This record gives sequence, C-alpha cells and structure tokens, in this order.
Amino acid sequence: MKLMIRGGRPLSGRVKVHGAKNAVLPIIAASILTEGDTVITGVPKLEDVYTALEVMVSLGVDARLRGSTLTLRTRGLSSFEAPYELVRRMRASFLVTGPLVARLGQARISLPGGCAIGTRPIDLHLKGLEALGARVRIGHGCIEARASRLVGSRIYLDYPSVGATEHLIMTACLAKGTTIIENAAEEPEVVDMANYLNAAGASVHGAGTKVVRVEGVSSLRGVRHQVIPDRIEAGTYMVAAAITRGTVEVEGVVPDHLTAVTAKLRETGVEVTEDETTVLVNAARRRLRAVNIKTMPYPGFPTDMQALFMALLATTDGLGVVTETVFENRFAHVAELKRMGADIQVDGRTAAVQGTRVLYGAEVAAADLRGGAALVLAGLAADGVTVVRGVEHIDRGYEALDANLRRLGASVRRLRAAPPEEERAASGATSRVTAGS
Ligand code: EPZ
Repeated sequence: MKLMIRGGRPLSGRVKVHGAKNAVLPIIAASILTEGDTVITGVPKLEDVYTALEVMVSLGVDARLRGSTLTLRTRGLSSFEAPYELVRRMRASFLVTGPLVARLGQARISLPGGCAIGTRPIDLHLKGLEALGARVRIGHGCIEARASRLVGSRIYLDYPSVGATEHLIMTACLAKGTTIIENAAEEPEVVDMANYLNAAGASVHGAGTKVVRVEGVSSLRGVRHQVIPDRIEAGTYMVAAAITRGTVEVEGVVPDHLTAVTAKLRETGVEVTEDETTVLVNAARRRLRAVNIKTMPYPGFPTDMQALFMALLATTDGLGVVTETVFENRFAHVAELKRMGADIQVDGRTAAVQGTRVLYGAEVAAADLRGGAALVLAGLAADGVTVVRGVEHIDRGYEALDANLRRLGASVRRLRAAPPEEERAASGATSRVTAGS
C-alpha cells in the first residue's frame, strides 16, 4: 500500500478523533479477568485492534467488533497459549500473560520481538509478575508463567513503563491482598484501564499518579466501557494543521491530555484555543519558530509525538533540538525526512533540526507507525508529490488518516502498490498503480 500526496495545501475544517488505541489494547487484555460480557464502545478500526481480537479468539474468548462496539464474552476462555505469529505482530498481546495466570493458573506466551523503535524489553513486566508470586521461565522463545494463587506485593518499577504498569495493575486485581506499584506510569490510558477495572468490581487506587494501590478481589464482572479519545491521533491532526499553516478544529478530545503538545505548538507561534472537548489550531499565514523538544513519560512531551513534531520543526525558522529519552532507536524517520530536503543531524538520542523554507516531495518509506505518520505530514507541506510506502504501519494506529486528511483539503490518494516484479518491469514507465479503495 502507498499514499500519494501532493503538498502545499493549508488544511482547513474539522476532524473528530477516534477512541484511543493504547487504552483499548490493555482493556481487551484485562477483560480476560472478568466473568461475563464486556462491551467496549468507541473502539477504533485499527490493525492492532484486529490482532488483539485474534489473540482473544485464540484463547477461547468470543470477540465481536460491530462498528466501534466490541463485545468480549470470556466464558469460553480455555487456552493459556498466545501464538507467536500474533505476539510477533503486536507486542501488546503480551499483556494477556498476567490475566491468564490469574484465571487459569498458567500462561505460555511467545517472547515479543523488538521492533523498529527499539529492543522493547519486558524485564519490568516479568519482575512484577514474579513479585506477585508467579514462577516465570523463559526458553525456546517462549515465556511460561505459573501460579496456583497470586499474592499482593510491593513493586518498584525502575522505569515508569506504561505496559508494565498496566500489566501489573490488571494482574494484581485478582491477587490475594494488597499490591503497591511505585514509580508507576501516569498516562491517561493507564487511568482509563483502571476505571474499566473498578467498574468491573476491582479496587484500584491512585491510577494516574506514581503510586498505585490495588486491593485484590475474588472475581470481576463484565461491564460496559467507553474508551477515552486518542490523544496521539488528536496531536497528529494538530501538527498537520501547523505544518500546512492551516486552521483545523479537532473534536472529541480531552484537552487536558494534550497540554504538552499544546504548549509546544503555542511556543512555535501557532494559535491554539480550546473548550472542553475541542482544540482549534490556527497557523494560517504564520511564520513559525523552532522549539526544543524532549520526550518524557506523561505528563511530559509524548514520545509518540516526537516524529510528528520533528517534521514540523523541519519547516520552522531556526534550529530545534529533539531529544528522545524514552526509546533508544526512534529516529528511523530522520533519513526519510532528509530525503525530502530536511536538514537534520542526529547524535545519539538527539537530533538537531535546522528549519528549511521548502521540503521536496519524494518517494519515502515508513518504518514504524508514528514515523510513517510524520512522513505523511511532511508530504502535506512539501513542494510536489510525495509517495509514502509502508502504509500498513500507519494503518496499525490511525483509522482513515488519508480520508480525514482529504476532508481537510489535502490531496492524498491511497494506492495499491504493484507487486515488486510488476513494479520492476514497469519501472521504466511510471509504475503501474491501481487506485485503491
Ligand atoms: C506504550 O508502549 C505504547 N504502546 C507506546 O505507543 C508508547 O510509545 C509507549 O507506551 C511510551 O509511552 C501501547 O500502549 C500499546 P513502555 P510500551 O513500557 O508499554 C523500557 C504507539 O506508537 N522498558 O512505557 O511498550 C522500554 O524499552 C506505541 O502507539 C524496559 O526497559 O512502552 C522503553 O525504552 C509505540 N523494560 C521504555 O521502557 C520493560 O519491561 C518505555 O516503554 C518495559 C519497558
């Protein structure tokens, strides 16, 4: 799949964001803990959500997505093994480990691989599961965890890992006694999952702060839950407005979840106004100045917005320094942005971005979800045509990104890439592409 973008058009109009991918994924895993039917509304239509549902079905859960409403019936839960193919495709599948041990006494999960943004270790997850009384063995590319009864414990996270925090909160809900998680991640998605668990009968206190206390209970029931809006999708459209010097209203957001992104956009000279569920971004006819960005755990500037903001900095006046403190290898988009004329020098976890007046359209390739979205945004601002390959990365985390951008006035077409041999044969002429859906 490819996206063909003709840049230079300021975006204008309004766009509504979907439910948060990184809230619905842990909640799907946590539903294993419940007896009865969980109904989740506001679920985004994303490849990662479909993968998570395949994992649930492979465990014996009846998972059905109708529009944006997901029903999970766990009474058929029967298997404690998550297949490698699914865990490899999406590492968040690993979050089912603790719930399976809590419900079935054991779990056998393939080791999640690394990915384009880093090795993505799971040591904090495993240390926490062992603290809760699970016996964990690693071998043959698999993790085996067993426990006849999980027991509450005090756990200190060396790093406020989002996934480890979510994994240990949900698992502690059915442990015997009290669990204290210190140096916990404070992301809104952690809070949303805790709200879902408490509605299901759990006793989770302090989610969204550095210390979370969980009082174990004997069982959880199925409930209905509406996921929070996706703050990274919202941030993506805010930066799209800024990079095209347009005016866009992003609806259905929680402005409080966007304070770092809003603050940095305002620092560049973009006008951002907000009410309780909407942010209005106005960059029309403005010269924007470079700013420095340092990614940090929430409420700091989100690492998932780093690539997107770097694309913006490539078009602002002056030097902007981007420091990525969360992942060790999240600059895959730099080489591609440079092929579009961006002036970026990388030194370890820091990238110096010298704004340039013009970016040029080019053929570029996405290597990961947010880096791919950054290339699309750069294409919106570039002079000429940009073709972004690897759109399957983007489809993992954005529902209808190209359709939404078209509605905002962008010239974006989704193309089905010709198979490589055809492409080679046609490489002399313009490569044959058929308009996609
Ligand atoms: C979640 O990943 C998100 N994914 C990521 O979003 C996001 O970038 C990340 O949090 C940080 O905010 C989901 O929620 C599904 P971490 P997660 O554990 O939980 C290290 C996107 O684009 N670490 O907070 O995997 C790790 O290597 C995705 O939507 C350990 O060392 O992130 C990293 O350097 C990309 N040991 C840092 O912590 C561990 O056991 C943060 O990772 C776990 C993590």
